[in-house]
Amino acid sequence: MIVLGIETTCDETAAAVVRDGREILSSHVASQAKLHAPFGGVVPEIACRAHVETLLPLVERALEDAGTELGRLDGIAVAHTPGLVGALLVGLSAAKALAWAAGRPLVGVDHIEAHVHAVRMAHADLAPPFVALVASGGHTSLYDVRGDTSLAKIGSTVDDAAGEAFDKVSALLGLGYPGGPAIEKAAKCGDASAVAFPRSYPGEKGGAGGSLDFSFSGLKTAVLYHLRGQHGKIGARPAPRPAADVAASFQEAVVDVLVARTILAAERTGARAIAVGGGVACNGRLRERLAAEGAARKKRVFFPPPHLCTDNAAMIAGLGHELLRAGRVSDLELEAVPT
Ligand code: KG4
Ligand code: ZN
Repeated sequence: MIVLGIETTCDETAAAVVRDGREILSSHVASQAKLHAPFGGVVPEIACRAHVETLLPLVERALEDAGTELGRLDGIAVAHTPGLVGALLVGLSAAKALAWAAGRPLVGVDHIEAHVHAVRMAHADLAPPFVALVASGGHTSLYDVRGDTSLAKIGSTVDDAAGEAFDKVSALLGLGYPGGPAIEKAAKCGDASAVAFPRSYPGEKGGAGGSLDFSFSGLKTAVLYHLRGQHGKIGARPAPRPAADVAASFQEAVVDVLVARTILAAERTGARAIAVGGGVACNGRLRERLAAEGAARKKRVFFPPPHLCTDNAAMIAGLGHELLRAGRVSDLELEAVPT
């Protein structure tokens, strides 16, 4: 079964062809990072325009590199939620038109669920039940995965996503966009215990049945206040530490929270395996800490390779394959659902 995947939820235009849900025949990602870099974040209008210009040539390349053509596909999968509404509409309109023109089935895919599926595409030995953490620029969520197409959200951020916090703190430190890789690089030369940034656990007092949610906006503000101290704007605060120390201390605070809540989720659900996806799953310190904490509790931790962590269309085609196999075909009324 050969499925074309289309991804335009945010600032990456992507097209991929996947055979039998796992074998990636082609996968192309056109990053818009350079277009958004001067603004320190994604500008929706610019993202939409770039998707319109880039998508169809990318689909043609993906089909050609996979040695196939539209009429030979078994389905077309498109990420239709969540994301920027205009950006979603570009991918969705293209997918509908292609599916209709070629008379092939269309299937709408949830982008975050696809990040979970990406971990399974990289690790054939990962099978439900397991707990999944998806941490990216737009989302930070925990899932209880019970079957191939059955998963329940058990926690999510109440404000900023983890990747968004990396991006904003990177901008505060003047390290550039996207912030995750820049902070990780700077942190390598820094002291993670230099600044005691807060660790936020929303709903912590809820006890055993309490929340598995995340919050990162307080941490971001704490970094801002720390840096302002440098310029003497806030009382008699001590001078801030060098950027490398701030980056390392911030990264450690994010990693502490992601690790603690993910381990708690695995213990609470009784899961013996943990999957981690989304752009933040590229982070070396997160990989190291979660692998160690998981091993200490006899839980296997699975990370996909970096190209399957960040946004891509192979994961959309892969999950689309599972949904099509389960008979979950979408009609041409399929809507873009931004949140
Ligand atoms: O999954 P993704 O490509 O797009 C979304 O769905 O949002 O994730 C992008 C996010 C950005 O916020 C970026 O700063 C973050 O992932 N990221 C990282 C690293 N690489 C990318 N965060 C921490 N450490 C990294 N090495
Ligand atoms: Zn994503």
